[in-house]
Amino acid sequence: MRLEVRYLERKVGRLDDSTGRILFQYDRDWLRGGIELSPFYLPLQAGVITLQGPFEGGLAGLFADALPDYWGRSIMDRRLRESGINPATVSALKRLALVGGGSFGALSYHPAESEDCYEARTLDEAVHFARDVLRFPENELPGSKLMQEAGSNPGGRFPKICVGWQPQTRQLVIGTQHYPEGYLPCLLKLDLGKEMPQGKTDLCRREYELLERAERRGIRCPRRWLLEGVDDVHQAYAHLLVQRFDRSTDGAVHLHSLSGIAHKLSVRYANSYEELFRLTSTLTRDQREVDQLFRRMVFNVLAGNRDDHVRNHAFIMPEPNQWKLSPAYDLTPTPELAEHSLSINGKWSAITHGDLLAVGKQFSVRQAASIIDEIDSGGSEESGLPR
Ligand SMILES: Nc1ncnc2c1ncn2[C@@H]1O[C@H](COP(=O)(O)OP(=O)(O)OP(=O)(O)O)[C@@H](O)[C@H]1O
Ligand SMILES: [Mg+2]
Repeated sequence: MRLEVRYLERKVGRLDDSTGRILFQYDRDWLRGGIELSPFYLPLQAGVITLQGPFEGGLAGLFADALPDYWGRSIMDRRLRESGINPATVSALKRLALVGGGSFGALSYHPAESEDCYEARTLDEAVHFARDVLRFPENELPGSKLMQEAGSNPGGRFPKICVGWQPQTRQLVIGTQHYPEGYLPCLLKLDLGKEMPQGKTDLCRREYELLERAERRGIRCPRRWLLEGVDDVHQAYAHLLVQRFDRSTDGAVHLHSLSGIAHKLSVRYANSYEELFRLTSTLTRDQREVDQLFRRMVFNVLAGNRDDHVRNHAFIMPEPNQWKLSPAYDLTPTPELAEHSLSINGKWSAITHGDLLAVGKQFSVRQAASIIDEIDSGGSEESGLPR
């Protein structure tokens, strides 16, 4: 299979797995433009590159970032089975073609096996779709083709769907690519009540509250709405809608997860905040971004968000070769996790004031002690830190 990779409308290069390995070649014009989309593991270079990343099929992180995990993948696999294809035999490039033009970030894959349209739907319809996906794994996949695509493209483990949202009229459309005028590209994280995976009832509300708190502590967060009400089967719900930071009024924005850009898998005891600090400093060359990361690390420790894994941190490139940390996302209290996913000063748990200060000092964070105090002084909100 061969796929053309595009950044917005421009050709970046070509992927080819017809020899059994995944090969990639940058387009000559793209090389001339000098935009580095993945500077560490797929820097601009002429000629054919054999991809040897730690991801599916050897994909480089630049492309692996577009593939769904858990939730989206379960839908994608069912889409494949329904077309008579065994998902276990499907190549990584076929999956990229299914994502097609509906990828997160600014890359798209052609010829795309995805639709560029939207359909008006209600919240209840989105909930029914997600419930049926979980309830009836053996039945025909529910929802329209478009709904299935909108559900299978985003990453993460919990039920969600790509939507356009009109905040004034509070109307929804479903689809992954273009939306009508006035609709904001959003990710709708669905509250399925007792049917939430891992029994995580009220997850969306808790995430919303943590985002609110994080923003008050100086952390950049996406615009968000908590959609509360009672559904058509009389169940109370609180869904979380977050505006997508990989979309701007000018179009798509390049997005690269920490996992993708640093070729890191989400495995225990393998990753650290210090690596993320080094990367942030190298990529952004901006101490303010390093300071922002420090705030996030301190907040995650104090608020007990230990699900701070390598797919829950990302960078965006709003202007060519100008990187920033993406706004914070997936902030949830995780009392069930004993340890952080990223180590801090060599530790995964029982992080102290001294550990945070040591990291701050190592990365020249300005006023590290007062940032800690500011976040720690949230009274009952944050948990307090052993010294
Ligand atoms: N506001 C946003 N704008 C753009 N992309 C986003 C946004 N929020 C999340 N994402 C992307 O969607 C993915 C899934 O979102 P999120 O991490 O919130 O889901 P989750 O199911 O709670 O994840 P996890 O499995 O880590 O618990 C993220 O990894 C990120 O790539
Ligand atoms: Mg996540």
